[in-house]
Amino acid sequence: MGLARPDPQVVVIFGASGDLTKRKAVPALYNLYRENLLPGNFAVVGFARTPMTKEEFRASMREAVSRHSRSGIADRYWLPFEEHLDYFSGSYGDPDRWIEFRKFLEEIDAQHGTQGGRLYYCATPPSAFPEITHSIGELGMADRARIVVEKPFGYDEHTATDLNSVLHGVFQEPQIFRIDHYLGKETVQNILVFRFSNGMFEPIWNRSYVESVQIDVSESVGVEGRGSFYEGAGAIRDIVQNHMLQLLATLAMEPPALFDAESIRNEKVKLLRSIRQIDPAETVKGQYNSGVVDGRAVPGYPEEDGVEDGSLTETFAAMKVSIDNWRWAGVPVYLRTGKRMPKRATTITVFFHGAPHLLFEASGLERPERNHLTIRVQPDEGITLTFGAKVPGPDMKVAPVDMDFDYDESFMSAPAEAYERLILDAMLGDATLFTRADEIERSWQIVEKILPKGPVDRYPAGTWGPVAADELIAPDTWHLPH
Ligand code: BG6
Repeated sequence: MGLARPDPQVVVIFGASGDLTKRKAVPALYNLYRENLLPGNFAVVGFARTPMTKEEFRASMREAVSRHSRSGIADRYWLPFEEHLDYFSGSYGDPDRWIEFRKFLEEIDAQHGTQGGRLYYCATPPSAFPEITHSIGELGMADRARIVVEKPFGYDEHTATDLNSVLHGVFQEPQIFRIDHYLGKETVQNILVFRFSNGMFEPIWNRSYVESVQIDVSESVGVEGRGSFYEGAGAIRDIVQNHMLQLLATLAMEPPALFDAESIRNEKVKLLRSIRQIDPAETVKGQYNSGVVDGRAVPGYPEEDGVEDGSLTETFAAMKVSIDNWRWAGVPVYLRTGKRMPKRATTITVFFHGAPHLLFEASGLERPERNHLTIRVQPDEGITLTFGAKVPGPDMKVAPVDMDFDYDESFMSAPAEAYERLILDAMLGDATLFTRADEIERSWQIVEKILPKGPVDRYPAGTWGPVAADELIAPDTWHLPH
């Protein structure tokens, strides 16, 4: 993966005037260009309803890149890069415009030597996916093409299955790249390397040694002006069904026979099939009221733009998950995610069973802290192993200490953006970090019973969620890296 250069191609971005294009897709393409990872012959064509000239599109992308690119913007790279950017306006459902669009892409091929290679990137709201796919199919534009589909992929199992059949009506599964941007994060890929390139962890990676697992995706932001989108989603659809189940599958799957897309995804699907459907009685849903985050007063969810009166949409969810297989039976996995928490932190903590017989006194603790391994997915990326050590002094007191790996310190570089990796892999045709049809459908089944909206417990913004979430995990407690 990674180092090969993609074949010549045009990247078509549907939804080119939207937020995702500006914040993620085009800054990622710019950084790939800067790092010389794009093919010599490439073009990026924005497609959206908004009428705009090529020059206006370039100016707006320049502004977007200067705001959102991790490397900033430099004329030395930007000026040659923007020569590859073009724009086409039209409605996704207008057949005449599509005929012109096909011609337009042929002209782009002639101009940039892109030889008919296509990567269609759907950065539109999901309601546009079927129309775009049908048009591509009807005009015979699916040959030598791949399609990237953004989340949300469906609204439940039924709609995800429908969307899969629409896609399969035009594309073969290996041409379809369903994005879950968590899989593009370096720290998530490192879970595979950590587990499968080190002999010492595998023997203890099971129910005999692991007592419980916690996965936490906390965000300090609110819904960031996306209230009306979020009303149709909620934390379970937005984070649990995709990002969190992917984290869990990566952490808990069996070792694949080979490091390729099909072997890895087969193991993930097998693991997802072993996860029991999540029980509403073991789930807590919350919604934030006004409060203080980072020293700033913030409004409650009901006051956010686009939120319906009396909304029961959950902005927080905590749940217990059970995996019914030989490796994990009886090991509780706790998931917690929320908006407007005190800080942004995505972590996975694996707790190991305590020593069977305590010889030493824990210093200042009611009981010694259990050995645990914390994977800091973000920020402050790294891994910590926490264990007990003797407190210096005449008696035998034990206190927890950390052995720490930190990305910045070890590699002297900040990880690349997830979208860079994912767009490059899609251009290369490597689906390892993308979700397969059966994987998505199974993930929806797992959360099916907890999707219906119901009562939510309120929590003040800037706190770790409703008290009921603490009761769910008691006598354990939610763990946060210090
Ligand atoms: C997106 C969700 O998929 O992930 C957002 O729609 C969320 O609501 C975002 O804020 C979090 O991504 P990251 O990479 O900042 O953890």
